[in-house]
Amino acid sequence: MKDPSLRRSLTLFRAFMNEQSDPESCYRLLAEDAASQLRRYVPLEGSTIVDVGGGSGHFTREFRRQGAHSFLFEPDTRELTAAGRPVEGAVLADGYLLPVADGVADVCFSSNVLEHVADPQTFLSEMVRVTKPGGLLYVSFTNWYSPWGGHETAPWHYLGADRARARYQRRTGRQAKHTLGENLFAVHIGTTLRQVRVREDVEIVTARSRYWPFLTSAITRVPGLREIATWNLLLILRRCH
Ligand SMILES: C[S@@+](CC[C@H](N)C(=O)[O-])C[C@H]1O[C@@H](n2cnc3c(N)ncnc32)[C@H](O)[C@@H]1O
Repeated sequence: MKDPSLRRSLTLFRAFMNEQSDPESCYRLLAEDAASQLRRYVPLEGSTIVDVGGGSGHFTREFRRQGAHSFLFEPDTRELTAAGRPVEGAVLADGYLLPVADGVADVCFSSNVLEHVADPQTFLSEMVRVTKPGGLLYVSFTNWYSPWGGHETAPWHYLGADRARARYQRRTGRQAKHTLGENLFAVHIGTTLRQVRVREDVEIVTARSRYWPFLTSAITRVPGLREIATWNLLLILRRCH
């Protein structure tokens, strides 16, 4: 699917809406999409990819299918086994302290993990450490003021995280999976871009909306608007030599 395009965005959106009933197709499509985004910058065949916080491994499976040597690191066994058997060779490890030597990855990949860590900058530093000079980092996250920022409690998080959680429990009879300040953190686009720009170990290749069909980079340049309209920020960074 051409990225960006309205057709691609609608297809991803439909898959996302059916995520509960058909998670397999939804995640396969997302993984194919991320792989094709990466292929614009680096050939996957033969590349070494470190997938940090890779959950049940749909991205790693797709990268391997496309010829990459992809290694999955995930700290939560429930996430690792959410879709059945964990992906072969998966390592139970925290993204802050990866059991990986310096500079081995052609690509260090993390999809929707940054908003789940308390210290995104340290997490990012570890991703940089394992990436080869000249290699790429793929970092995407849902920012707090995104319409999906509250995850399963969205869009009620706009009225406050506690209120959104209470409403979720009232409506579903279940506790929400995420609690702000415990396993979900309010990450903002402006702050993240400023923090990345001042780093000397990476340069920004692109900062864009991951799923939006048009003006994907322009949106991320408009303070205020970008916090709501981007939905999910995709950063492709290059590790400096
Ligand atoms: C929303 S899931 C995303 C999973 C997968 N990357 C994807 O995009 O489908 C967030 C993942 O981040 C993981 N995570 C949370 N804290 C982490 C940490 N400190 N290091 C690595 N992964 C972490 C969680 O266990 C979970 O698997």
